[in-house]
Amino acid sequence: MNSQQFIALEEQFGAHNYHPLDVVVHEAAGAWVTDVEGKKYLDCLAAYSAVNQGHCHPRIYDAFLEQAKLVTLTSRAFRNDRLPLLYKKLHEMTGYDMSLPMNSGAEAVETAIKTARRWAYDVKGIPENKAEIVVASGNFHGRTTTIVGFSDDPSSFKGFGPYCTEAFPMHEYGDIEDLKTKITENTCAIMIEPIQGEGGVVIPPDGYLKAVEKLCKDRDILFICDEIQAGLGRSGKLFAHYYEEVRPDIVIIGKALSGGFYPVSAILADKEILSVIHPGEHGSTFGGNPLAAAVAVRALEVIEEEELIERSAELGTYFAEKLRAIDSPHITEVRARGLWIGLVLDTKARPYCEGLMDEGILCKETHENIIRFAPPLVITKEEIDWALERIEKILKSV
Ligand SMILES: Cc1ncc(COP(=O)(O)O)c(C=O)c1O
Repeated sequence: MNSQQFIALEEQFGAHNYHPLDVVVHEAAGAWVTDVEGKKYLDCLAAYSAVNQGHCHPRIYDAFLEQAKLVTLTSRAFRNDRLPLLYKKLHEMTGYDMSLPMNSGAEAVETAIKTARRWAYDVKGIPENKAEIVVASGNFHGRTTTIVGFSDDPSSFKGFGPYCTEAFPMHEYGDIEDLKTKITENTCAIMIEPIQGEGGVVIPPDGYLKAVEKLCKDRDILFICDEIQAGLGRSGKLFAHYYEEVRPDIVIIGKALSGGFYPVSAILADKEILSVIHPGEHGSTFGGNPLAAAVAVRALEVIEEEELIERSAELGTYFAEKLRAIDSPHITEVRARGLWIGLVLDTKARPYCEGLMDEGILCKETHENIIRFAPPLVITKEEIDWALERIEKILKSV
């Protein structure tokens, strides 16, 4: 079958909940993917940062296969000999006492919400069912009905209500004065992305994260940081909140936690917070299964041993500088932290993404006029130069 035939099948039998570029990927390795006709593309999206370690990383693949031969799923009804090692690894790497594993990012966000609410009632003493979590404009935390209920993007929330909006007041992202006006005696948490990825790599003003941390400390509120896309090296640091040297009470991770082999997510917190969840109160059939844990441990080891965080910082600076040097009247801004770049245009980005695809580069527009470049962190400087030549050509010709 060729690409057109696969696309026809997908259009006929699949729900149309995505608007993908018409490239039909057959295989991938490192920073490259190959379509069914054998054409190669440099992947500049990295599965929304889930394959920071590169596609089909051979060492993660080994861990996946070795574990798949032993046992894949026990459910949490029994213990297994892989999950404790993931807990230990996450503790050593991040400094948090404990973690709670789930599968998708949205589930981990739900876990953070449940933990914060339980803390609100059991520790802070907020009256039952009154806890509020302040969120930010432009947020993206996933697709469950609770989460889309506090999105301000109509394509996320419209038509899926009813919602409980009073439980999630929204402040203007980056505006600490506005945030202060949203705090009440029932506020139990503030939940933000340290950099908004789906929002188009939106970096808040310097000092914002520090001010959020201080506000949380002063008012006995939990600071929740969603690092699902920003974390694990993407921003040029292990976590994007390290740029302001803050320590959130709950950190949410996912995506690159498995290097793309398997959905693995988790929340990280200290014991006095995570202890509010008791046996039987939260869980998931697949969450924390041995296959997920084995893959996640190896995926984290690869980030450390291949120095992917340092790579992201160094190559990201290079990539962004070169993009800023492109002389195009359509570029209005280049926002970058590590290998995570939002190229803001004064026009629709989709035709540029399609032009780049023809040139062998895969990336995706976000919010109509922004192209996000977020290649696997294993990309080389030579591959970036190769991409830059083509990006310049397309920016000047479309
Ligand atoms: C910041 C953030 N939070 C949560 C999610 C949801 O993750 P998932 O798609 O794995 O549910 C995403 C996905 O893009 C994200 O970028």
